[in-house]
Amino acid sequence: MAKEYIRLEHISKKFGEATVLRDLNAVLHRGEILGFLGPSGAGKTTTIKILTGQLKPTSGDAYVLGIHVEKIDETIYEQIGVVTDQSGVYERLTVYDNLKFFARILGVPGERIEELLKRVGLYEHRKKPAGKLSKGQAQRLVLVRAVLHRPRVLFLDEPTSGLDPSTALDIHRLLEELREEGMAIFLTTHNMEEATKLCDHVALLNDGQIVEYGTPEELCLRYNQDKRYRVLLSDGSRLLLGQEAEDVGRLSRLLQANQVNSLHSCEPTLESVFLTVTGRALG
Ligand SMILES: Nc1ncnc2c1ncn2[C@@H]1O[C@H](COP(=O)(O)OP(=O)(O)OP(=O)(O)O)[C@@H](O)[C@H]1O
Ligand SMILES: [Mg+2]
Repeated sequence: MAKEYIRLEHISKKFGEATVLRDLNAVLHRGEILGFLGPSGAGKTTTIKILTGQLKPTSGDAYVLGIHVEKIDETIYEQIGVVTDQSGVYERLTVYDNLKFFARILGVPGERIEELLKRVGLYEHRKKPAGKLSKGQAQRLVLVRAVLHRPRVLFLDEPTSGLDPSTALDIHRLLEELREEGMAIFLTTHNMEEATKLCDHVALLNDGQIVEYGTPEELCLRYNQDKRYRVLLSDGSRLLLGQEAEDVGRLSRLLQANQVNSLHSCEPTLESVFLTVTGRALG
């Protein structure tokens, strides 16, 4: 079993009278990506703030790398990386000098900067002042900065929101490589496709509560009550068949007669699971 890097136990959070997190429980292991999915206001950023020691929970316990969140101090930043927004970049310094500055503090060799810049497609922009980067470039810069020192745990708050598909892909590729290297990644997103592709486990958060938890496949199958099959026949015609005995018999006869060119089961997506569970779409 891989090492446990994050644990949430009965975490709740109130702001005054308002309860924004209710009894959250979750575990994240080494080499895994956990996605916190939910509409705006669900409590995703609040959860990250609690796990990184920026906010205190009202009740419950949480641990990052075995350290209780209430005991977290700056020394943990040697072992974790956090990206919640694009702040903390020196706008007048170039991309490279921004990274060099942090690399020096963190004791990271220069080759690591070049390697990461190449991996996210920022190498050709390394001499640009950070203040002149586009949104997607700036987002990649803060991500590179967060992983420069090879942290064991990485927190990402909507790392690809508002990015074009190809920049989002660059970021997905880097995250998959970092997971391979053993990093544990705690990610929040509104993007169900991203979650399905990247996450080992997802927690669906609604009004501060985890309403579903599992692998993306498990969740989709759990809600796959109305299974349907899309069939392309060898004569080019198409059929949509259900689970009724009549349809299943027909499908079986077609298969035996070798008349089926392709057969797809139509499973629900995480998006439709979320709609079913919460009764509302993602913001
Ligand atoms: N410092 C605060 N004081 C009072 N209420 C707060 C505070 N921070 C967050 N909230 C409230 O807590 C709830 C959850 O906010 P949070 O930022 O965690 O949501 P989120 O899931 O990250 O949303 P989004 O997708 O819009 O980023 C919201 O209703 C928000 O208004
Ligand atoms: Mg948020």
